[in-house]
Amino acid sequence: MKLRKKMSILVTAGPTREKIDPIRFISNYSSGLFGYEIAKEARRRGHRVFLISGPTTIEAPQGIRLIRVESGIEMERAVKREAPKYDCVIMAAAVSDWRIERVSKNKIKRGRAVSTLKLVENPDILYELGKRKKKGRILVGFALETENLAKNALKKLKKKNLDLIVANRQYKNRDAFGDNYIDILLIDNLGNRAAYRRKSKQDLAKIVLDKVSRLGI
Ligand code: CTP
Repeated sequence: MKLRKKMSILVTAGPTREKIDPIRFISNYSSGLFGYEIAKEARRRGHRVFLISGPTTIEAPQGIRLIRVESGIEMERAVKREAPKYDCVIMAAAVSDWRIERVSKNKIKRGRAVSTLKLVENPDILYELGKRKKKGRILVGFALETENLAKNALKKLKKKNLDLIVANRQYKNRDAFGDNYIDILLIDNLGNRAAYRRKSKQDLAKIVLDKVSRLGI
């Protein structure tokens, strides 16, 4: 099998924040660690790497072009602009599925009854990339599930036209986002599956990139 030695890789990482007002937002527990490890390992291997990151506390990795975005819409804009320039896109970001329909310009004061916040769906960036994928390009997605891991991951792989999906389970009392040691299931475009247990995100980054370099596309 032909190995892809040098590639250009766009990696997204971290959560997005969806503003409620100038003070508050909704988001998720993503630490960004997995995506950053993938970007760093890709750089070590000599690939050209660009990292688009949601808000995280992780330091900017040396030698990697990085831009920071905040919301799902900003992430979409940056990914759409950059993706066509890369051989491979790895969407490790935990993009919020929703945003607030109307962001308040001013702080919402206590007493002004806000019993509901109207949410609207954010664009599915990966799905859009999958629809427009050119021959020879590689698209990698993630799936974080609380149930039916393999079934849901396979569904996402097909729906979003991916070449590889990295699935992991959110356990009730273990934090897949913050925990450095997690279990993952990889499913590729031929339906091949491989499961890895209690591995560090550093090691998993190597496993994911090994797999990417061997994908039949
Ligand atoms: N993703 C994306 N844009 C979104 C939401 C998710 O590009 N608005 C990407 C993520 O980066 C990830 C993959 O899609 O690589 C799967 O995300 P996930 O939230 O698990 O899946 P959803 O398609 O949103 O499905 P659901 O939330 O219903 O499980």
